[in-house]
Amino acid sequence: MRLMGVASTVFTLVLTFVISGFGQATTAERDGRPGGDGDRRHQDEGERRHRDGQAIFRFDTFGDEQLWTNVLQMHEAIATVDPATALAVGLKVDVEALPTAVIKSLRSGRIDLTDPAVTTALLRLNAVVGVKGTVNETGRLVRVGITCALCHSTVDNSFAPGIGERLDGWANHDLNVGAIVALSPVLDDALKAELRTWGPGKYDPRHHAFDGTNLISLNSPSLPIVIPSIYGLKGVGFETFTADGPISYWNSYVGVGQMGGHGTFSDPRIGLAITQTPDLVTPKLAALLDYQLSLRVPDPPRGSFDKEAAKRGRHLFRREAGCASCHQSPNFTDVLNGPAETVPFLHNPAEVGMDPAYAARTATGKYRTTPLRGLWQHAPYFHDGSAPDLLAVVNHYNRLFALNLTAAQKADLVEYLKSL
Ligand code: HEC
Ligand code: HEC
Repeated sequence: MRLMGVASTVFTLVLTFVISGFGQATTAERDGRPGGDGDRRHQDEGERRHRDGQAIFRFDTFGDEQLWTNVLQMHEAIATVDPATALAVGLKVDVEALPTAVIKSLRSGRIDLTDPAVTTALLRLNAVVGVKGTVNETGRLVRVGITCALCHSTVDNSFAPGIGERLDGWANHDLNVGAIVALSPVLDDALKAELRTWGPGKYDPRHHAFDGTNLISLNSPSLPIVIPSIYGLKGVGFETFTADGPISYWNSYVGVGQMGGHGTFSDPRIGLAITQTPDLVTPKLAALLDYQLSLRVPDPPRGSFDKEAAKRGRHLFRREAGCASCHQSPNFTDVLNGPAETVPFLHNPAEVGMDPAYAARTATGKYRTTPLRGLWQHAPYFHDGSAPDLLAVVNHYNRLFALNLTAAQKADLVEYLKSL
């Protein structure tokens, strides 16, 4: 890691102090940090923030410290993790939350990225994307929680690998959720070993749920799936790989049952009913929805695909290869072709050559035709990441539907997919 510098402990402590001191001045600090004088103030600040979907998405834990701190005791684990390790498991640092003095010190290699105290200092600045920490007067990390941004934001690496400006809606493909959760001191070895097999960019939202007190086992063994990008959601209608419901349904499922937020979620289709009052999730869903719908699909970088080949590929997509029979305009999905607005149109796993096991654990048991957007940006593909690149996607369909595409036709289709 090129930023790693050798700094004396004393110097690091001084820097930690500097970071802490400057912390008060950052935007994140002003907008979200409880001042330490109790829950009342936290709540008032919270109320103000709820009007802002972006702030909820980035900074609201919905009280999920009850899972990450009280149950998993991640604050104990994180206090021993140095920034280099945190970056290696895919955590990202928001450069805009860093005071100028810290940026200068990072640039000149004067911050020791092998010192766990620096991780705590970064949390105090609200600079770790998707992780919210509370540090007490003696510099100890006493509470941590997570936000939606942990999985669904990354950074543009403009400062250094893993450090840059936030890109909300871009899945964090480096994030190793399993490895992070496995740091918890309270989990048994078998579960930790299983979590460590998930790998970066994946998570299994059907493995367990948290009901406010206990982790409930939902399905075993785990079947981790790709953390999806969540831009370009407008008009799609049904979310998740299996179209379990609209955006707010899923936000509620994750906010309460997965992140561990203090709130209420119930769905008889999957036999889950969690009730916790006050509900810190449901009142925020509307603003959160607005923000998600505002996240635009990133354009393919200039020159990243061959325009002529893409034109030929588009023709193949619509005609010979038959892709458009399912990936229909305007969102490249047929999920809205159901008999009623509330009933998604779906595909049996076998129809698209997909593993039935994950779908079987969901509310619908089938797969939604994935709306295609920003494909250049979010390999791997399919719910389980079974296609490492777009040629693998095309090969999958070529085999499944016996399309007999030539190598040149496959290449044209790939160029088209890169242009979406
Ligand atoms: C621990 C990682 C993680 C966190 C935290 C998380 N998600 Fe997700 N999210 C996922 C995974 C994995 C899926 C895929 C689930 C599926 O499709 O079955 C997903 C799916 C989604 C989808 C559906 C996307 C699509 O195109 O179908 C939306 C929208 C979404 N998440 C929004 C949110 C919001 C808002 C929050 C915060 C309340 C959040 N997520 C928190 C991992 C996460
Ligand atoms: C019978 C309907 C159907 C046809 C035909 C079809 N698809 Fe799909 N497509 C799906 C479904 C369903 C999924 C979701 C599968 C999954 O993730 O498990 C999918 C997923 C994808 C994905 C993954 C998107 C992502 O973000 O992970 C791509 C890319 C894709 N299809 C491209 C194509 C191309 C190219 C063709 C033509 C060669 C095609 N599809 C033909 C139904 C179809």
